[in-house]
Amino acid sequence: MKIGVAGIGRMGAAIAERLLKNGHQVTVWNRTVAKAHALEPLGATVAKTPAQLAGAVDIVLSILTDADAIAATYDGPQGLLSGDVTGKLFVEMSTVRPEQQRALGTRVSAKGARMIDCPVGGTTGPAREGKLIGFVGGDAADLTRARPALEHLCRRIEHVGPIGAGASLKLAINLPLLVYWQAFGEAVALCQQLGLDTARLVDIFADSSGGPNVLKVRGAMAAEALAGKPPANVTFDINLIRKDLSTMIAEAKSLGYDLPLTARALDCYDEAARNGEGASDAVMMPVSWLKQGGKRKSDK
Ligand SMILES: NC(=O)c1ccc[n+]([C@@H]2O[C@H](COP(=O)([O-])OP(=O)(O)OC[C@H]3O[C@@H](n4cnc5c(N)ncnc54)[C@H](OP(=O)(O)O)[C@@H]3O)[C@@H](O)[C@H]2O)c1
Repeated sequence: MKIGVAGIGRMGAAIAERLLKNGHQVTVWNRTVAKAHALEPLGATVAKTPAQLAGAVDIVLSILTDADAIAATYDGPQGLLSGDVTGKLFVEMSTVRPEQQRALGTRVSAKGARMIDCPVGGTTGPAREGKLIGFVGGDAADLTRARPALEHLCRRIEHVGPIGAGASLKLAINLPLLVYWQAFGEAVALCQQLGLDTARLVDIFADSSGGPNVLKVRGAMAAEALAGKPPANVTFDINLIRKDLSTMIAEAKSLGYDLPLTARALDCYDEAARNGEGASDAVMMPVSWLKQGGKRKSDK
């Protein structure tokens, strides 16, 4: 099966790499061309435009920042949907609102093509190891077509409803995770005076009710960050988290709910971004809070 990947950011690069290493023919496109060319040594073909990518493959996976990025890549004179895409399958994997996936589904189907949404849980490491969780919205027959690609990427694929359903579940799954990094920073504020080695501290949290799964998988990075060693590779940055939290709040509002914890967590992430941490990895959030929160407290 010829697979295209549109959006060679951190996640798209990891996904394309995984597919290439599992023997698929992969064509890639990215707005910043150098990131696409970096995959050529692994066997990727680089398309000059999204239209060329869609023309060259049977199935297109897209994983892009947000709804604006999706519009820029799918629509317009050189967009994924600009040529003859009759019968092609699009798998949209970005974290956006369900209504944005549904609107895209309408545009795709107007061109005689098919679409599912499949946002994913897990970051670049799980993508490279095929250990993501895919949350799928769309028709079962379209998921069946996408499975040969998705099964190389995901350890678990959950088909949870029509187009947009994957986006609903993905936003829900990310909420406790993103609020957690702030909660962890606040928790450490209560015990850092003990002077415990940060690896030991994180291990205690991870092994008790103080830690969710993310501390088991990213605990070593979190401990190093607390010890003053920021991660060399950023996998999920604070600016993307702010986008996700804002998206959750807007989505909940449309459903008639307030999300007070999420809103307050967003304030804290916004503050971290104002303090120059927007491009830092999520594991730097507790560190940023301990620095800034502590300073603010002593100012009072
Ligand atoms: N990082 C994670 O751990 C993770 C995990 C699960 C899901 N996600 C979700 O996956 C998506 C991608 O995340 P990421 O970490 O790969 O982000 P990233 O590294 O910032 O990559 C973003 C991608 O979107 C492209 N893009 C942005 N604006 C564009 C525009 N106007 N036109 C065309 N392309 C545009 C970028 O192109 P350029 O390279 O040219 O900027 C890049 O390919 C997001 O929705 C994120 O929430 C991320």
